[in-house]
Amino acid sequence: MFTLHNGDCLQYMRSMQSESVDCIITDPPYGINIKTGFNGDDKSISYDDGFSVMFFLDEYVKQWNRILKPNSAIYVFTRYDVMPYWWIRMKGCFDMKNCIVWSKGGGGTGDLKGNYIGTHEMILFGAKGRHILSGKRESNVWEYSKCKPDLHPMQKPVDLLSNIIFHSTKEGDVIFDPFSGSGQTGKAALINGRSFIGCEIDERYYRLAQSGLESIEPFTPSNNRLHLTGGTVPAQGDLFTPEDLPSEGKLPAPTPRR
Ligand SMILES: C[S@@+](CC[C@H](N)C(=O)[O-])C[C@H]1O[C@@H](n2cnc3c(N)ncnc32)[C@H](O)[C@@H]1O
Repeated sequence: MFTLHNGDCLQYMRSMQSESVDCIITDPPYGINIKTGFNGDDKSISYDDGFSVMFFLDEYVKQWNRILKPNSAIYVFTRYDVMPYWWIRMKGCFDMKNCIVWSKGGGGTGDLKGNYIGTHEMILFGAKGRHILSGKRESNVWEYSKCKPDLHPMQKPVDLLSNIIFHSTKEGDVIFDPFSGSGQTGKAALINGRSFIGCEIDERYYRLAQSGLESIEPFTPSNNRLHLTGGTVPAQGDLFTPEDLPSEGKLPAPTPRR
């Protein structure tokens, strides 16, 4: 089950009930004015001007805290240069637990001779109250190949999002993504038997997300695709085995790559 809203997430969040979502997974514009000419189309990102999102930061974080159920988790994608702004705001509302490093490989653009290649992004992980993670303990460095941005220039891999979902939600939970872009968080939610609520202000991405989510076949325990799409996570010896499945869950164990 999903609900996708085409509009400003702040307005939408103000209309949401308190303590109504089980997990927030989101990827706000980094505020870096990114512009790519993918397939000749304008693939710029709304409100990525380095000002708009930052202006409302306090209000976003306050709303997230209000709509999250107690003892739930929040994951926010960010980058080294804007991470401090998010961290400081989120720390005022959440128990900030970690900064997961997503090592995504691949090459880079930018200053080819005067800078290092950027091959990681960050995911801020916080909790409202005491949030217990499912599965065995993992390192905070996750290796997932970046996906081909065929829908959105900042498209995130469904297998990485599934790993978050595996650790921080259970079947039937409601996952909210206020900056849902092409709807990758929603896809990961639906294929794993969770419900999804998303907001996207840009009609192009909203439409893509809507049709992508409509095409997901309904979840059944036998087509559960958690971790089956090839991510790599544990880097710490504490690897998953089939016996590690939560007793109430039906999730397959991830296949670790050493
Ligand atoms: C970094 S992208 C998310 C990409 C997404 N993770 C994916 O895999 O496709 C951020 C998205 O937030 C949207 N956005 C920006 N400001 C917004 C707002 N106030 N409300 C809702 N969406 C917004 C942008 O249009 C953009 O698509």
